[in-house]
Amino acid sequence: MTETSVYLAGNFAPVAEEVTATNLPVRGRLPEELSGRYLRIGPNPLVPPDPAAYHWFLGDGMVHGIRLRAGKAEWYRNRWVRNQAIAEARGEPDPPGEVHGGMDFSANTNVIGHGGRTLALVEAGARPIELSWDLETVRRSDFQGTLPNGFTAHPKLDPVTGELHACAYYWGLPHLQYLVVGTDGLVVSNEAIPVPGSPMVHDMSITGTRAVFYDQPVTFDLSSAPFPYSWNPDYGNRIGVLPFGAPGSEVVWVEMEPSYVFHPLNAYDEGETVVVDVVRHDRIFDRGAAGPYGSNPALWRWTIDPAAGKVHTEQLDDRPSEFPRVDERVVGRRHRYGWSVGLAAGDSSLYGADTLLKHDLVAGTSQARTFPAGVGIGEAVFVPRSPISAEDDGWVLLLAYDAARDTSDLFVLDAADVTAEPVATVELPQRVPEGFHGNWVADAP
Ligand SMILES: [Fe+2]
Repeated sequence: MTETSVYLAGNFAPVAEEVTATNLPVRGRLPEELSGRYLRIGPNPLVPPDPAAYHWFLGDGMVHGIRLRAGKAEWYRNRWVRNQAIAEARGEPDPPGEVHGGMDFSANTNVIGHGGRTLALVEAGARPIELSWDLETVRRSDFQGTLPNGFTAHPKLDPVTGELHACAYYWGLPHLQYLVVGTDGLVVSNEAIPVPGSPMVHDMSITGTRAVFYDQPVTFDLSSAPFPYSWNPDYGNRIGVLPFGAPGSEVVWVEMEPSYVFHPLNAYDEGETVVVDVVRHDRIFDRGAAGPYGSNPALWRWTIDPAAGKVHTEQLDDRPSEFPRVDERVVGRRHRYGWSVGLAAGDSSLYGADTLLKHDLVAGTSQARTFPAGVGIGEAVFVPRSPISAEDDGWVLLLAYDAARDTSDLFVLDAADVTAEPVATVELPQRVPEGFHGNWVADAP
């Protein structure tokens, strides 16, 4: 297998149809409390791409959804996220909404609910795509005229204020944009965050009082086809801290050794320091043109002292892992638990994503649920049993692909003991290709 085809082989290959299925078979018993939609998104090229010219991050977006209610799995749907090209190919009108910066991208990286809307998200300058409740494309969204450029795939929802914090970047801008989106879905602030180049900024962190930015050594590079960002250790590596409400010019940068973080687990204030737990790669985007190919992704704790200009680093777990998630109710606050996907291989092609890890960062212990041979899993999403239940009292939801059956299941596992028998398993009518992120969007109370 050539490296340019890794991200089109096996369960990375796209599915060819949009499917709607109702009343899905369930093994075990779905908790009555699960009333909402589990949504997941990833690349799924509509037209079979030339493997030599394909980068996994650039595939057309496809959203998958499973509707749970009253102990039943009411439906599964998968839909391409429309842009002009996909709409045209399917004989449909171009979705409404302006294209930003010529980047008419079919969002493929994250899907969230916010302000009563469902949004498919991508970074690097393209607009979010608003979806209907049943996952049809509604429009390219500029948040009712309040979003100046593109958005991000990884906004952070402050569980206390309900505001979304986002760090957007776009090669055509000389700075990052720190955006705050209100509970009504409108941008309420936009601060320019100065950086010395054009970094790829995949994610950010918040504490209860501060925003944290990752200005890392992956930078815009048109010579790097087809994906125009590449590993650039000479750029340096810095982490920025900015109090909420302060002007962007007041961000305090702290230098670090080169590394790359796609995904922080969470961050919180500890006195004047900021603690961030991250999945740290030694390097990224430096081998092959088909995908990220990270190196040694593992969970680390960085304790940032902005006043001293120092970061204390400590590896928390030496197993290769990615897709770290916390209970969304503790975002920005001290967390005890995290869930992540353990990788059998030491790189982040995501081949060998076969183990669900639960980290107890207070006790310093962990659980591991390794799935049977031939089963590959995706990101795990925690859903609390109730709004006031304890931090690991609830379920984790994840998709697992079974190569022997060539289909996927939605697993509902006990979040407190991920090694226990599954609470329930929903059988899907088709496989869900390897993808990126998902979320549980609970029904409005
Ligand atoms: Fe991501």
